[in-house]
Amino acid sequence: MGSSPWTLCLTLLLFASVAFSAAPKRAIDVPFGRNYVPSWAFDHIKYFNGGSEIQLHLDKYTGTGFQSKGSYLFGHFSMHIKMVPGDSAGTVTAFYLSSQNSEHDEIDFEFLGNRTGQPYILQTNVYTGGKGDKEQRIYLWFDPTKAYHTYSVLWNMYQIVFFVDNIPVRVFKNSKDLGVRFPFNQPMKLYSSLWNADDWATRGGLEKTDWSKAPFIASYRGFHIDGCETSINAKYCASQGKKWWDQPQYRDLDGFQYSRLRWVRNKYTIYNYCTDRVRFPRIPAECKRDRDI
Ligand SMILES: *[C@@H]1O[C@H](CO)[C@@H](O)[C@H](O)[C@H]1NC(C)=O
Repeated sequence: MGSSPWTLCLTLLLFASVAFSAAPKRAIDVPFGRNYVPSWAFDHIKYFNGGSEIQLHLDKYTGTGFQSKGSYLFGHFSMHIKMVPGDSAGTVTAFYLSSQNSEHDEIDFEFLGNRTGQPYILQTNVYTGGKGDKEQRIYLWFDPTKAYHTYSVLWNMYQIVFFVDNIPVRVFKNSKDLGVRFPFNQPMKLYSSLWNADDWATRGGLEKTDWSKAPFIASYRGFHIDGCETSINAKYCASQGKKWWDQPQYRDLDGFQYSRLRWVRNKYTIYNYCTDRVRFPRIPAECKRDRDI
């Protein structure tokens, strides 16, 4: 035994597989039905290539949505989405995690459509114990309707990170030490939906949905889920601390990731609740950490 070259080699391999599991190669091929089920308006979801690609359709009768079969406590959750092309004003496409109870936790991506050629807005939000009001809004650095892009969430005991194509666009640190609640003991399901929200979505509700352009279609692929699956009432994850997303390198962003985050902040931010002194005369406690970025 001892540390022969072979054990060293095996150890390295083990580390490599842990490091690379952050982006599983075949994640993009996992079919819808393995991890997800429709939530409502089943006939407005269309399936392609054995369910490895789906479309959500919104028309004047209804939008539609789907949800994960399982509930999760921590993990890395991603979706490849191509947003509604052309005139998408008034529509909202969402990808989020949410627990089911009344004092619920939630981690949200919401994509607000726009008139043809005008930019989408990506709004993110975090709810803890039923309380939201932590919106941030950015423009994207690409047209999200032209190709698939990856939207993902890393959630562990230390932080919630929102990524766009693996670039962090927002970090919500566990600020328990500052008296701020952090989602840690309520399993969440994943949800996605496409619906009409022309009372608020585009230019604050000024631009209405043009139903003559319906159906509005958002496309999805990559239905892999990398999370600790638990029963819906579980208070902790059985493999807590042992999964790749729990490891030290995922407890904080690295220097390169912080520089990308600052780039997004400086160039693409439209709104940050942390700097809204009208709405929050007293700066929310967790924003002290947000300011240091
Ligand atoms: C839509 O386009 C207008 C004009 O460029 C812009 O002000 C707005 O932020 C864009 N996005 C949304 C969702 O309203």
